[in-house]
Amino acid sequence: LWTSSNIIEDSIEVVRKTVGTDHVVLGLSGGVDSSVVAALLHKAIEDQLTCVFVDTGLLRLHEGDQVMATFAEHMGVKVIRVDAEQRYLDALSGITDPEQKRKIIGSLFIDIFDEEAAKIADAKWLAQGTIYPDVIESAGSKSGKAHLIKSHHNVGGLPENMLLKLVEPLRELFKDEVRKLGVELGLPADMVYRHPFPGPGLGVRILGEVKKEFADLLRQADAIFIEELYRHDLYDKVSQAFAVFLPVKSVGVMGDGRRYDYVIAIRAVETIDFMTARWAHLPYEFLDLISRRIINEVPGISRVAYDISGKPPATIEWE
Ligand code: XMP
Repeated sequence: LWTSSNIIEDSIEVVRKTVGTDHVVLGLSGGVDSSVVAALLHKAIEDQLTCVFVDTGLLRLHEGDQVMATFAEHMGVKVIRVDAEQRYLDALSGITDPEQKRKIIGSLFIDIFDEEAAKIADAKWLAQGTIYPDVIESAGSKSGKAHLIKSHHNVGGLPENMLLKLVEPLRELFKDEVRKLGVELGLPADMVYRHPFPGPGLGVRILGEVKKEFADLLRQADAIFIEELYRHDLYDKVSQAFAVFLPVKSVGVMGDGRRYDYVIAIRAVETIDFMTARWAHLPYEFLDLISRRIINEVPGISRVAYDISGKPPATIEWE
């Protein structure tokens, strides 16, 4: 019989049998899949699990603190938080090509994760939040961090004696099943039902070169947009919504003064499969509110645009 609690009980059994008394490492991103694996493994093997959470500096507002609060403080999971913002900024300095940015972000993640995993002396297993659709589409290139680590470890990126065996407790589950498991395991609903967030994070939402100043502005604008979506009961009606930073300056007026500041684009889409999408027809009054709040509250932004491009021909992300 398929119920979340049966699946949890079965998975716990399997994990315990599989890893025995060995230590397990998990890359925790704050996304649904890795979060559910963390909660499940914590329940199954408690202190034998260590999570590595790489704060790339390309996460959303307060995201790093929220991940630590949920797992480390609230659930008592062992989490190593790596503050890697400066390394990411350095690595991305001067880089404008989207694919090159993705590659740099992905490979730096692997380097940092490996450095941390190597410090966990008795780690024998690498846990991953691979879910069934990832297994089917493993040829696809956009499945994020999990696969980067996976392919990396499989090709022997670590020294021979460090090779970790894989444990993937969600391998047979679909996304909606994973979400139900998350709720059953006590994860906060807003974490379990959050919109997807790309592995490269804000790195692909800051067009062109990534700078800390841009990331900070984008984080503020994005947080206002998301906060208002929740407040107006629109968050769950769209499939994905976010702000994008455009590194172009535009003129505005404020009081007696003239300003010459950056532009934020707002994107919200409705989609079933993320392969095609239509732009969400958000109410004009709502868009008006978003624009006013962002321009008034985020110094450095003088203009807000709403993205009315479908996929195809546009992609959901801007890079
Ligand atoms: P696009 O922009 O291709 O996005 O229409 C489709 C979905 O995939 C997400 N996305 C990514 N996810 N790494 C990821 O893990 C990536 O490099 C990446 N690029 C896009 C995007 O957020 C959307 O949900």
